[in-house]
Amino acid sequence: MTSNEIRRSFLEFFQKNGHRVVPSAPLVPGDDPTLLFTNAGMNQFKDLFLGREKRDYTRATTSQKVMRVSGKHNDLDNVGPSLRHHTFFEMLGNFSFGDYFKAEAIEFAWTMLTEVWKMPADRLVVSVFKGEHGIPRDTEAYDIWRKFVPAERIMELGSEDNFWQMGDTGPCGRCSEIYYVRGTGMDPEIEVWNNVFMEFERSADGTLAPLPAPSIDTGMGLERITAVLQRKDSNYDTDLFMPLLTRIGELAGATYGANPQTDISMRVVADHARATTFLIADGVIPSNEWRGYVLRKIMRRAMRHGKMLGLGEPFLHEMVAVLAREMGDAYPELRTNRD
Ligand code: ALA
Repeated sequence: MTSNEIRRSFLEFFQKNGHRVVPSAPLVPGDDPTLLFTNAGMNQFKDLFLGREKRDYTRATTSQKVMRVSGKHNDLDNVGPSLRHHTFFEMLGNFSFGDYFKAEAIEFAWTMLTEVWKMPADRLVVSVFKGEHGIPRDTEAYDIWRKFVPAERIMELGSEDNFWQMGDTGPCGRCSEIYYVRGTGMDPEIEVWNNVFMEFERSADGTLAPLPAPSIDTGMGLERITAVLQRKDSNYDTDLFMPLLTRIGELAGATYGANPQTDISMRVVADHARATTFLIADGVIPSNEWRGYVLRKIMRRAMRHGKMLGLGEPFLHEMVAVLAREMGDAYPELRTNRD
């Protein structure tokens, strides 16, 4: 399956199960001063979780553009050496706003992975919250998982892994992650999906208050699930990155995979070219402050690695054509804002 087919099949599965397919929100969040960039699929639904807003649907599914370059969720320094981190990525998600809760969410996830995508069930490992900091163990999630996986493939972990919050404040809850066991490569076990059981709102003083209704927020990196389904050990070996890496190679006279040091620089350029293109398509302009400064930092880092690859002329703009061609069906702004 191509990455475009994977994205589409996810949205179609949840649409068939009563979810509204909602377009990705822009990378620049609407009116949320707590966020520099959209950092999770749930951001655009924050007020629905908090009960401050109602819409004509209680189930939604999205493929959301996200950036993780600042604040609570920051992967910038991993990009280059890592085969599974990105500054910009696409997060597939399904959401329930006071509609279904843990039992349905876990069953949806399991069906999507093992029946729709036919992933081997015996390669999946899951985790649940073990209980910590006064928040009880997630016995309910454990018991639901036992219907699908044997006890030895259910890990019980603490807040670091199994309690998710968007930022210092806002909706949050215990979560359950699903890992795929590859057994090979730099990441023999890779987290592919996070199911958050939204139950609380954290306020600035750290206290937790119950949400008006228990809800579901999930997130799966398209880049990681694509690597797994395309049987690659690296996100960069998938069709989401290879066209970019090939173009960079043409410009620099290099071949991806031939030299570990050059590969790092090629991955940085590919990742940062995506971030740059999607940010500019959403109206961010490089500058000295705030969002524009982060964009400038990313562009400078891409250019520095371009120089290390021997690229003496401006090259970053060359990546836009590749992205408009490969991803323009899913994100038309790459074509309409290309100039
Ligand atoms: N909001 C959750 C995450 O980003 C699903 O991991």
